[in-house]
Amino acid sequence: MYYLTIFVLVITSCFGLNESISCSDPNNLHRQCGNARCRLNTLEFRNELKHGILKVNCTSNQKIKMGLQDVKVNSSYSFSFAEINDRRIVWACLLNQGPKMEYSHILWRAYRGAHKPRCGQVRKWVARNDGIYLERNSESKGFQHPWHK
Ligand SMILES: *[C@@H]1O[C@H](CO)[C@@H](O)[C@H](O)[C@H]1NC(C)=O
Ligand SMILES: *[C@@H]1O[C@H](CO)[C@@H](O)[C@H](O)[C@H]1NC(C)=O
Repeated sequence: MYYLTIFVLVITSCFGLNESISCSDPNNLHRQCGNARCRLNTLEFRNELKHGILKVNCTSNQKIKMGLQDVKVNSSYSFSFAEINDRRIVWACLLNQGPKMEYSHILWRAYRGAHKPRCGQVRKWVARNDGIYLERNSESKGFQHPWHK
């Protein structure tokens, strides 16, 4: 009976959501989107520079600080969070790179919550030498921002 209940819960959560949200990862479930269970949203940063560390420092408008992170070439750093209904979550992230960390860009809206909480959203920012690129839920959005010196 216990296993049947779990099974029904999983099935319900997968079909209870619109959009193409995957609920198959049981470690990443969260109560959002009405009462359906669904995955947290993710901000990801990938270093595709030719060489050198990418520094990432993200802060939310809800005073959550992720602190300074070092991302090596061909590696990624990511974290997940829920969207919150009464106040849209906005993550701002400072990126730095270069031999003296002299190139930077502030993504003021690295992630911006929607009017209604969403699940399983992914914003992947890719740092390359010529600038910063975005993938939104695996869809390439191309070049977004140049580096500032
Ligand atoms: C990271 O960002 C926060 C908020 O903008 C800032 O207070 C902090 O000094 C930054 N840390 C570093 C090491 O840049
Ligand atoms: C990163 O990946 C690219 C493409 O696969 C490769 O050409 C490059 O050598 C890699 N760089 C490092 C430092 O591993």
